[in-house]
Amino acid sequence: MLDEARGRRPDATMILEVGCGQGAFLNQLTDVYPSAELVGIDISAQAIEAARRRSFPSTPIQWHVASVEHLPFSDETFDVVFAGKTMHHWENKQRALSQIARVLKDEGLLVLGDPFTDGPLRSPWFNRLNERLDGGTFTSLEDLKSMLAQARLHLVTKQFVPWSGKTLSVCVISK
Ligand SMILES: C[S@@+](CC[C@H](N)C(=O)[O-])C[C@H]1O[C@@H](n2cnc3c(N)ncnc32)[C@H](O)[C@@H]1O
Repeated sequence: MLDEARGRRPDATMILEVGCGQGAFLNQLTDVYPSAELVGIDISAQAIEAARRRSFPSTPIQWHVASVEHLPFSDETFDVVFAGKTMHHWENKQRALSQIARVLKDEGLLVLGDPFTDGPLRSPWFNRLNERLDGGTFTSLEDLKSMLAQARLHLVTKQFVPWSGKTLSVCVISK
C-alpha cells in the first residue's frame, strides 16, 4: 500500500487512513511523507486511545474516533486515503466508499488492501473460514467494481498479495 502511494503520489500533503487501528501504518508514513498532514480515524475509541499513546509526541498525526461511513471532513480534503484490512468490517460498504470519494480531491487516490473472494485462493470454504477468523464479509471483484461505479470511483489496479495466507489484494482506486 505504501509503495503504491509513494510511487503515484510522492507529493501528497493531506493523507487519511480509515480504520487505522492502533496507528502502526500512519506512524510509518511520517518517514515517507515528513511534511504531510496525517489523519487517522477508527470507529473504536480504544484503538484511537492506543494510537494516541503509541504515537511519538513529535509526530503531527491527528487521531479521531469516527466511522468511515460518516467522515467528519470537508469535501475534497485528501490527496490519498488508505484503508488497510478494514473494508470487510464495514457495515455499509457502499456508503463508506461514497464518503471516501467525497473527501478525496479530484486527483486523489484510495489505496485499499483487503481480502477478496476472488484470486488464486478463491475457494469458498477457505474464504468462509477466513471470514470466521477475521470477522466481517469479504467482497468479490464484481461487487467492488459495482460499488465503485456508484461512488464515481474507478479501479486502476488490483494486485494479489502472495504469502499473506489469505486472499488479500491491494487496489489502487482513483476518482
Ligand atoms: C483488522 S483492523 C486493521 C487496522 C489497521 N488498518 C491495520 O492494518 O493494522 C480493522 C480496523 O477497522 C476498524 N473499523 C471497523 N469498522 C470501521 C468503520 N465503520 N469505520 C472506521 N473503522 C472501522 C476496526 O475498529 C479496526 O481497528
